[in-house]
Amino acid sequence: MSSASTKISRTLGALLISPYNNNKDGEAAMPSKMKRISKKGVCYLLTGSILLYLMVYHSSPCDRNTAYMVPRDGQKYMYDNNQNAIPYYREMPLIFIGGMPRSGTTLMRAMLDAHPYVRCGEETRVIPRLLGMRSNWERSELERKRLQEAGITDTVIDSAFAAFILEIIALHGEAAPHLCNKDPFTLKSSVYLKRIFPNAKFIFMIRDGRGTVHSIISRKVTITGFNLNDYKQCLSKWSTAMEVMYSQCLQVGASSCMPVYYEQLVLQPELWMRRIVKFLDVPWNESVLHHEDFIDKPGGVSVSKTEKSSDQIIKPVNLEALTKWVGNIPENVVKDMAKIAPMLRTLGYDPDGNPPNYGSPDSKVADNTLHIQQNVDFWKQREKDLLQRNPQEAGPPAANPPETNQKPQQVPPKHQAVLPGR
Ligand SMILES: *[C@@H]1O[C@H](CO)[C@@H](O)[C@H](O)[C@H]1NC(C)=O
Repeated sequence: MSSASTKISRTLGALLISPYNNNKDGEAAMPSKMKRISKKGVCYLLTGSILLYLMVYHSSPCDRNTAYMVPRDGQKYMYDNNQNAIPYYREMPLIFIGGMPRSGTTLMRAMLDAHPYVRCGEETRVIPRLLGMRSNWERSELERKRLQEAGITDTVIDSAFAAFILEIIALHGEAAPHLCNKDPFTLKSSVYLKRIFPNAKFIFMIRDGRGTVHSIISRKVTITGFNLNDYKQCLSKWSTAMEVMYSQCLQVGASSCMPVYYEQLVLQPELWMRRIVKFLDVPWNESVLHHEDFIDKPGGVSVSKTEKSSDQIIKPVNLEALTKWVGNIPENVVKDMAKIAPMLRTLGYDPDGNPPNYGSPDSKVADNTLHIQQNVDFWKQREKDLLQRNPQEAGPPAANPPETNQKPQQVPPKHQAVLPGR
């Protein structure tokens, strides 16, 4: 191959150079030399072009990798159930849902998961850890310097982080045109995520810290730095974490980050879901108001057996959790609430209201709540079915409520809860 290319270049060289270089040989020599070159040249050119043709079109796959006409960034695809290819890339409008754990982040993602165009899925756990590692390096001056010296610049890290995070989000669940991620603490890194995913949108779940902390403690949700035996300490930690996430939300701006109050979402789900879907540039679909009908269905709400909130999202939106905390927080902590958790007031909660007035529910939510209270056994069974199901067959939970210990008139006829007034 090398001799062939030498020949070609020599021939081409001769042809190209000759008209100009011939000046050295004098004008008289030119015609005869030209003739000689052209005869020889045609011969060489012919052989050369055949060889060139063979080289370009019949090269081995190995050679093809070194070709120049390759797109800079290869497009990546995920495939839906009908084998349609859906591209995923850094500039896509990824959705990040976050906030403090036990603030309605799972409810939010379940409601969006019910939308046929959106897929969030279970918590990935690795994404917030990775983001935490990066902010540790960034905080350490020494480490930053070491990385710089090793050629690990921000550009290199950003490229690697974006690729890792995007792969995890795209490939850990079903393909969908709008990909979404819910790992509560990712919203501590909204500014960074916005840097590597410029069109990302953030939904920041906000809940009354007293409700959040009561839920963390009563459900024994382990969170680094939280002492589950100490309401005061947890409320103060809640306040600090919320301050960080709130500030990140403000920094990325209202066009990228939307704060959503859990209490308002459960009181007025339709009003808020319409706003949220509009903010996300996703077309409206009623499904988001009936997430409980899509649990573990293809294209619906995929649920983890190990996540603490899974047992709650099998129920339709209801008011059960809103004021459970009232009367469960030690008196001395309640008295000092404004000082212990200053973010309560910043976010608009009355630190002295026990409970504060969160507002009134729309009629559907009021109905849902009543229905759940009247069918306690049915919903307990749904919970059990969900958490004991075989992970291999991710089918819907028991299609019919069990015959035993049920009051027949009150039991919904199908697995889909048919609620009064629907
Ligand atoms: C809403 O979503 C459901 C599936 O979840 C789909 O069958 C229906 O066609 C969608 N409606 C609209 C208006 O897109």
